[in-house]
Amino acid sequence: MLCSKRSRARRYPNEGFRHSAHLCYNHFIMEIKGLILSGGEGTRLRPITHTSAKQLVPVANRPILFYGIDALKEAGIEDIGIIVGSTEEEIRQAVGDGSSLGVRVTYIRQEAPLGLAHAVLTAEEYLGETPFVMYLGDNLIKEGIAELVKRFKEAQPDALILLAHVLEPQRFGVARLEGDRVVELIEKPKIPPSDLALVGVYMFKNVIFQAAKSIKPSWRNELEITDAIQYLIENGYQVESHIINGWWKDTGRLEDLLEANRMVLEGIEPRCSGHVDGESQVFGRVVIEEGAEVINSVIRGPAIIGKQARIVNSFIGPFTSIYYEVLVENSEIEHSIVMEKSRISHIRGRIEDSLIGKNVEIDRSPMRPKALRLMLGDNSKIGLI
Ligand code: DAU
Repeated sequence: MLCSKRSRARRYPNEGFRHSAHLCYNHFIMEIKGLILSGGEGTRLRPITHTSAKQLVPVANRPILFYGIDALKEAGIEDIGIIVGSTEEEIRQAVGDGSSLGVRVTYIRQEAPLGLAHAVLTAEEYLGETPFVMYLGDNLIKEGIAELVKRFKEAQPDALILLAHVLEPQRFGVARLEGDRVVELIEKPKIPPSDLALVGVYMFKNVIFQAAKSIKPSWRNELEITDAIQYLIENGYQVESHIINGWWKDTGRLEDLLEANRMVLEGIEPRCSGHVDGESQVFGRVVIEEGAEVINSVIRGPAIIGKQARIVNSFIGPFTSIYYEVLVENSEIEHSIVMEKSRISHIRGRIEDSLIGKNVEIDRSPMRPKALRLMLGDNSKIGLI
C-alpha cells in the first residue's frame, strides 16, 4: 500500500538482483530507535491517574508500558527513548535503565502534554537522523510489531502507519483510503469517513520533524501526529499503511483496560508458585505468583494472584488480576483489576467490572448507626447495590 510509484523497486526486490542486494544491505544496517510516549494526563482514568501514570496500571499484573517495551525489543529495537511528563519519577522507578527488560532507556522530559507531534519534536535531539518506531505507552497490540518493523526496514517509506477496524471511529484518528492508498487522516472526526482507526504505533523517517514543525495546534490545542502525517501525504511523501487483524487496545478508558486484561489473561500459562491450602479450589488458567497464599477460597481462571497476596474465604472469578500484597477476605470479585497493597474485606455483594487503585481499603463498617462511610478521591465512581 505504498503511496508512490517511486517505491516500486523497493517493494519488489525480486525484479532485479541489484535491488535485492540493495535491500538486504539496507535491511541489515538500518538502525531503528524506539520512542514510547508516556507523558500525558490520563483524564479518563481518574482518580487513578490523579496520583499515578496510566501507563503503569497493571494488565495481568504487568504495567501496560512493559508490553510496549517488549514489543520493541522483540522487533530488535533496544535503544528506546521514553517521553515522560509529570509522572516521570514513577516511570523511572518502574523501568529504571531498561536493563531488566533487555533494553537501554533514555528519558526525555516533555514540559507539558502538548500533543503527540510535540512529543516527537521534544525527542528530535535523541532521535537525530535515525528512523524510529513511535509507540503510545497506553496501547497494547497482541500480534507484536516485528514483522512490520521488518517491512519498514525493507520498503523504507517515509512513514508506516497501522490501522484497525473499530466500532467508534470518532474516538480516534481516522483514515480515508482510496483503494489501498491513504488519502486523508482526521483526528477524532465528528463524522468519520471510515471505520479505520489509527493504532498507536507509527514508524517514521526523520522528515516527520519537518512535518511536525509545519502544522498548527488542533481544536484541543495539541500538535497532532495525525496532522503531521497528513502533511506528509499532501507533500508527496510515501505513507504506507497496514491494517492489523489481531486485537489492539487503547487502554485509556476503564472498559478498554478491563478488556485488555481479559485478553491477556486468556493467553497466560497456568502456574502455581505460591501456596494453595487443601480447602481451596483452583479451576482453569490461573497463575499464583511467589509468596501468594490462597486459603479456603475458590479461584476460577483466567486469573492471576500476585506476589505476597492473600486470598482468604473468598471467590476470585474469571478475568481478574490481583496485584502484589493485596488482601481479599470474605469477599467475591471478578472481571476486575486490583492494584498493589489494597485490602478488600467482608463485602456482601460481588465486586465486578472494577479497577481498584493502590492501597485502597474497602471494608464493612462495624460502627452504628449503620451507614456507608466513605473517603473517595475526586472523580471516583462507585456503583452501590
Ligand atoms: O490510541 C490510538 C489513538 O492515540 C489514535 O487513534 C489517535 O489518532 C491519537 O491521537 C491518540 O489519541 P489519544 O487521544 O488516545 O491520545 P492520548 O492523549 O491518550 O495519548 C496517547 C499516549 O501518548 C499516552 O500514553 C499519553 C502520551 N502523550 C500524550 C500527549 C498528548 C504524551 O506522552 N505526550 C502528549 O503530549
